[in-house]
Amino acid sequence: MSDVWDSAAPGWDANAELIDAQLALATEAMLDAGAVARGSAVLELACGPGGAGLAAAERVGDSGRVLLSDSAPQMVAVAARRAQARPWVSTAVFGQSEIAIENGQFDAVLARHGLMFVEDRAGAVREAARVLRAGGRYAAMTWGLRAQNPWLGCILDAVGEQFGVSFPPPEVPGPFSLEDPELLGSILREGGLQDVRVQSFSTPMGADSLQAWWERVPKLAGPLASALAAMEPGVGEAIEERALAAGERCSRREADGIVFAGSVLIGSGSAPGR
Ligand SMILES: C[S@@+](CC[C@H](N)C(=O)[O-])C[C@H]1O[C@@H](n2cnc3c(N)ncnc32)[C@H](O)[C@@H]1O
Repeated sequence: MSDVWDSAAPGWDANAELIDAQLALATEAMLDAGAVARGSAVLELACGPGGAGLAAAERVGDSGRVLLSDSAPQMVAVAARRAQARPWVSTAVFGQSEIAIENGQFDAVLARHGLMFVEDRAGAVREAARVLRAGGRYAAMTWGLRAQNPWLGCILDAVGEQFGVSFPPPEVPGPFSLEDPELLGSILREGGLQDVRVQSFSTPMGADSLQAWWERVPKLAGPLASALAAMEPGVGEAIEERALAAGERCSRREADGIVFAGSVLIGSGSAPGR
C-alpha cells in the first residue's frame, strides 16, 4: 500500500499548500483537541507532506519537538523538505500500526486523514496511545459524510457508475470509511482512549475551474490515482466526463472559480494512566 501512496507523493507535493489552506481552521481545531501547546512533544502519523505536524510545530515552538511519520518514504521525503527551516522537527518512516518508538514519549499524537486507511483501526489507536504519556491526547481528523464531501464523492461516484459497482468496494478502508461520528468515537474508545470527543467541521474546497478540480483531486487519492492510470484508453475519459457533469451540479460558481462543500470529523481522547 505504501507504493500506491509513494506514487501519489508528487501530486501531494505540488498541492500541499492548497490542501493545508483548505484544512487550516479544522487543523487548528485538531491541535486544540490534541491540547498541543508551547513546549509539547508531538508525533504526526500518516503525515503525507506534513501539513498538520508543521502547524503543530508553529505552536510548540523551539522548546517543543515534532516527529513527522508516514509509511510511504516518498511522502516523508516531501515532509522533510518542508520542515527544513525548523530544527525541532524531525521525520521517520513507519506505519500507524507499528510505531517505532518506545512507550510514553509524546504529549500528543495527530493523524490527519490517515486513520481511515488502516484495516485494524482500534489497533492503530491502541498503538498511538502506547507512545503517549499518561493523559496525553490523540486527535484524528477523518472525512465526514460522503454526501457532504462532493469534491471527492462525485469522482468516486463517477468511477463506480462507469463500472456499475460501489467504489471503493465496501470492504476496502477508503476515504469515507470513518464518516460516521458514532463509529469514530467507538473506535477511539475501543483503542483504549478516555474522555473521547467527536466534533464536525466545515471544510469547503475551492478550485479555479471544474477542469482544475478534476486535474487535482484524482492525483491525491492514492489508490484512485493508480486505478485511473491503469485503465484502458477511453475509460479514463468516460469517467472524466461523468465527473465533470456531476461536479457542475454539485459545486457553486464564485467570482474567482468554483467551491464544493466539504466536512471533516475530529475525534480525540486521552491516554489512560499506566
Ligand atoms: C490522504 S493522505 C493525508 C496526508 C496528510 N496527513 C495530510 O492531511 O495532508 C493519507 C496518508 O496516509 C498515509 N498512510 C496510509 N496508510 C498508512 C499507514 N498504515 N500508516 C502510516 N501512514 C499511512 C499515506 O502514505 C498518505 O501519506
